[in-house]
Amino acid sequence: NGSRWRSFLQLLGRATLVSIVAGAGAFYYVTQKERHPGNQLPYDPEKKTIVILGSGWGATSLLKSLDTTEYNVVVISPKNYFLFTPLLPSVAVGTLSQKSILQPTRYVARHKTRAVTVIEAEGKKVDPIHKTVTFEDDSEIQGTVHQTTIPYDYLVYAVGAEVQTFGIPGVQEKACFMKELADAENMQRRFKDCIESAAFPGQDSTEIDRLLHIVVVGGGPTGIEVSGEIHDFLEDDLRTWYPELAGRIRISLVEALPSVLPMFSKQLIEYTESTFKESKIEILTKTMVKEVKDKSVVLQMPDKSIQDVPCGMVVWAGGNKNRKITQDLMAQFPSVQTKRGLTVDDHLRMAGAEGIFAIGDCTSTSYAPTAQVASQQGAYLARVFTQLGKKENLERQLISLDQAITTASGEDKAKIAEEIESTQSQIAKIKIRPFHYSHQGSLAYIGSDKAIADLPFANGNIASGGVATFLFWRSAYLSTLFSLRNRTLVANDWLITKIFGRDLSRD
Ligand code: FAD
Ligand code: NAI
Repeated sequence: NGSRWRSFLQLLGRATLVSIVAGAGAFYYVTQKERHPGNQLPYDPEKKTIVILGSGWGATSLLKSLDTTEYNVVVISPKNYFLFTPLLPSVAVGTLSQKSILQPTRYVARHKTRAVTVIEAEGKKVDPIHKTVTFEDDSEIQGTVHQTTIPYDYLVYAVGAEVQTFGIPGVQEKACFMKELADAENMQRRFKDCIESAAFPGQDSTEIDRLLHIVVVGGGPTGIEVSGEIHDFLEDDLRTWYPELAGRIRISLVEALPSVLPMFSKQLIEYTESTFKESKIEILTKTMVKEVKDKSVVLQMPDKSIQDVPCGMVVWAGGNKNRKITQDLMAQFPSVQTKRGLTVDDHLRMAGAEGIFAIGDCTSTSYAPTAQVASQQGAYLARVFTQLGKKENLERQLISLDQAITTASGEDKAKIAEEIESTQSQIAKIKIRPFHYSHQGSLAYIGSDKAIADLPFANGNIASGGVATFLFWRSAYLSTLFSLRNRTLVANDWLITKIFGRDLSRD
């Protein structure tokens, strides 16, 4: 019996060793392939040029799936990276470090069959008549040339949206946002500043309470996730390092509508509200922010009374609005571009303009402005371009066959006529299907290691919330991250935060 056990353990040991070596080998192979991509086809003046404006969800999903064999591709974006927005609130409290959720666009571009030009610049103007884009290097350091105009055959317009402030006084200047990487860094810095100022010797009690009152505006998923993350920072770390202050930190979530998270089921809204209650996050519904001041926020309460509520920091998550470049583009087509965002047809072609496709948050469709929609639209356009490329090749072939048949005779002529017929039938078979969105469900993190999920299942919906959903949330986002590098960095950050806690230093 003992020798059987020994040989079983030996076998198990060997199998484990082989698995570790094979796993490490596979990991090494994949990472080295990512780091050292092969040669690419050069720019080809015979091929059509696709200009992609943006490097967010829509643009990156397109770039990742696009077969560049038949196209020259230029990507223009003021950020030379893709930002994984779902994990941005985690960066704002230091659960994750900023680099972990960024993917440099050049990494994606460098793996394409044909070289892709990546330009860090802000698109300023689209001229749909002459089919050109004007862009500018707005960064701190500029060369002598910092604005230029290039032509496109196809433009993929994927510039996203910016934060909606409704022109409410003080919001733009005094509140923190949660849209860009810089917003998360800014929020973290200000939150830590509030705490350190509250810890300043001799600070009076009312001022301590003001500095430690954090107001989050907007009960959409961004506001909910930010509140949950601040609460985690408080419970997991601040209680240990600022024991005299932690108990006085207050988080208030202000929402103008009667309930938070209107896109989730009633059951999950109630679950979120009860979790927030346990976490001592105060939810103020039917309450509207009227002004953000230096040291307070002005609220219109449900009974229409006005209150000036002292606070140290306001985080604004009030929704989306169009960027200026989008408004300017729409203004060029006043008769068809009449909605809040760009109107597109069911093939994502911009109404009124030829050769422009628009995807993601800058469009006005029946879908919610989410990463899920934008990335599916990007992947769809990649398929469209493959088909268009095939069709254009066949059409070119047809033109040369048409020319050849005019000078051919006898058997050759009959052969060419046959080829023409077959090419025409191949062209006729290329049918570009309309975009179809497949909803994979909605997920949101609500703090305290809990998440909520509304998942489509067998013609119905499963609503789930809790710790198991949190693990599902983490694994879903880990697998959605665009690269192995990001997955490794995020998993590592989660582990480091679990072991050592979040960093308190303020830069
Ligand atoms: P974006 O991803 O915003 O990309 C726009 C790109 O255009 C950016 O690269 C930007 O730099 C670039 N750009 C801007 N101006 C110009 C210009 N003038 N010229 C050229 N380029 C320009 N959705 C989900 O489905 N699930 C989630 O969990 C989720 N979590 C979120 C969490 C947060 C904090 C936020 C803010 C959003 C979240 N969303 C989520 C929504 C999701 O991020 C957006 O719907 C998605 O980013 C839209 O993709 P997009 O490509 O249209 O725009
Ligand atoms: P949102 O538009 O969903 O919510 C903004 C909220 O702010 C609204 O409920 C609005 O009533 C409220 N508001 C606006 N002005 C106000 C005021 N003055 N006073 C009080 N309340 C005010 O915006 P959000 O959360 O930024 O989301 C934008 C998009 O991104 C949505 O489509 C959302 O689905 C998506 N998203 C998805 C996430 C997820 O699936 N986990 C996470 C974050 C965003």
